[in-house]
Amino acid sequence: MSQDKTWSGRFNEPVSELVKKYTGSIDFDQRLAKWDIQGSLAHAQMLTQAGVLSSEDLAAIRQGMTEILAEIEAGKIEWSLDLEDVHMNIERRLTDKIGDAGKRLHTGRSRNDQVATDIRLWLRDQISDIQNLIQNLQSALVELAEKNAAVVMPGFTHLQVAQPVSFGHHMLAYVEMLGRDFERMADCRKRVNRMPLGAAALAGTTYPIQREITAELLGFEQICQNSLDAVSDRDFAIEFTAAAGLLMIHLSRLSEELILWMSPRFGFIDIADRFCTGSSIMPQKKNPDVPELVRGKAGRVIGHLSGLLLLMKSQPLAYNKDNQEDKEPLFDTVDTLIDTLRIYADMMRGVTVKPENMRAAVMQGFATATDLADYLVKKGIPFRDSHEVVAQAVRHAEQHGVDLSDLPLDVLQGFSSLVAEDVYEVLTPEGSLNARNHLGGTAPEQVLKQVARWKALLAQ
Ligand code: ARG
Repeated sequence: MSQDKTWSGRFNEPVSELVKKYTGSIDFDQRLAKWDIQGSLAHAQMLTQAGVLSSEDLAAIRQGMTEILAEIEAGKIEWSLDLEDVHMNIERRLTDKIGDAGKRLHTGRSRNDQVATDIRLWLRDQISDIQNLIQNLQSALVELAEKNAAVVMPGFTHLQVAQPVSFGHHMLAYVEMLGRDFERMADCRKRVNRMPLGAAALAGTTYPIQREITAELLGFEQICQNSLDAVSDRDFAIEFTAAAGLLMIHLSRLSEELILWMSPRFGFIDIADRFCTGSSIMPQKKNPDVPELVRGKAGRVIGHLSGLLLLMKSQPLAYNKDNQEDKEPLFDTVDTLIDTLRIYADMMRGVTVKPENMRAAVMQGFATATDLADYLVKKGIPFRDSHEVVAQAVRHAEQHGVDLSDLPLDVLQGFSSLVAEDVYEVLTPEGSLNARNHLGGTAPEQVLKQVARWKALLAQ
C-alpha cells in the first residue's frame, strides 16, 4: 500500500474507495498535464542551476518528461485514481521511467505551489486564445456594421420605438462592449501571470532556490511575493470569471435582441438555418437555439463566479483542500466562453438583414418626433414648448393612422406657424440619421468612421 500513496507511511489503514473518489481530482485536473510538465521542467532546471540537482538528474527528467508528454498527446497514458491528482500521476510515471531522479524532482516544492502554478500557466494561455476569439467576433460585427451603415432601424428605449438609428451603429455598440471585455481580459492576465512556485507548501523552502530563474523560464511577468498568499488565493481565477461573466452578459443581451428581431413580429433579421432547429410537433417552426443557449449559458458562467467567490469566502490561510474545487468551474467557464465566442462569430456572419422591415417599424413609431421638436427649436421656440407642439401633432397623426411625414404642410402649420417646406427633410428616418453627425452619433458617416477606426485597431 505504501507504494500507492505518497504519504501512506503515516497511516494505519488505506483510504476507503469512497474517500478516494471523493478526494481525487485526476478525472478533471488531467487537462493541466501539459502545464504541469512545463512547470516541473523549469523547476528542475532551476534546482540544477542552484546546485540542488545534478545535471544527470536534469537530463533524465527532461528525457522522461518528453516521453510522458508524447504519451499524453497520443492518449496513451493511464491516469490512476489511486494517485489522486495529475501532479502525482505524472511524478509516478516519471519515477517509473527514470527512477530516483524522478523522486528528486519534488525537492523544494509542494503540490500547493505546483497546482497554483499550473492553473496560472494554463489560464494565461486560455486568456490569449479568448482574446483572439473576441477580436474575431468584433471583426464579424464590424463587417456587418460596414454593410449596413445606412440601414435605418428603430432605436428603442423601454422597448418602445424612440428614434431612428443605423443598424451598423447598433452593431458597433456591441463592438465597443467587446472591446472593454478584451481590455478586462488583458488586465486580468497581468495578475494571472505571476508565479507562486517557490512558496512550497506555505512557508517557502530550506533549499537555496532562485525563483527569478524559474519565473524567467516560465515567462511569468512577476513573482508572488508572499508564500502564504501565493498558495492560497484564487482571486485571479475569480477575476477572470467575473470578466467572463460580463462578456457573456454582453452576448446574452445581443442574443435577446437577435431572438426578438427574428420573430415575425419584428422580422428585422434572419439567422442562417444551420444555427436554428425545428420543432418536433410544429412544422412551421424555426427556433433561434444558438442565441437562446447563449442567453442560458450566461447564467451558468455567473453561477461559476458565485461558486468561486463562495469557495474562497471562509478559508483561513493558507492552502486548504477546498481550493481543489476551483478547477471545474474555471474549466467550464473557459470552455463555455471559447465555444460561445466561436459559434457567435460564425452566426453573425450568417445574419440576413431585412432593411424594409426595419424601416417600416420606424415609420410606425413616430420615431422622428424629436427631430420635429429640434426643428422648431432651431426656428426659435423653447424646447419645452416645441415638445408640446409635437405631442399634439403626433396625437393628430395617430388618430389619422399616418406618420408625421405624411401630414400635409398646412396641417403641420396648424400646430406651429414656423413650420416650412424644409420640415420634410428632418421628418424622414434618413434625414434624422444624417442630422446626428458627431462623434458617437448614429449618422452613417460617423458609423463608417467608427468602422475604419475598429478595422485599424483589430488589424494591429
Ligand atoms: N489536487 C490538489 C488541488 O487541486 C493539489 C494540491 C493538493 N495539496 C494538498 N496538500 N493536498 O488543489
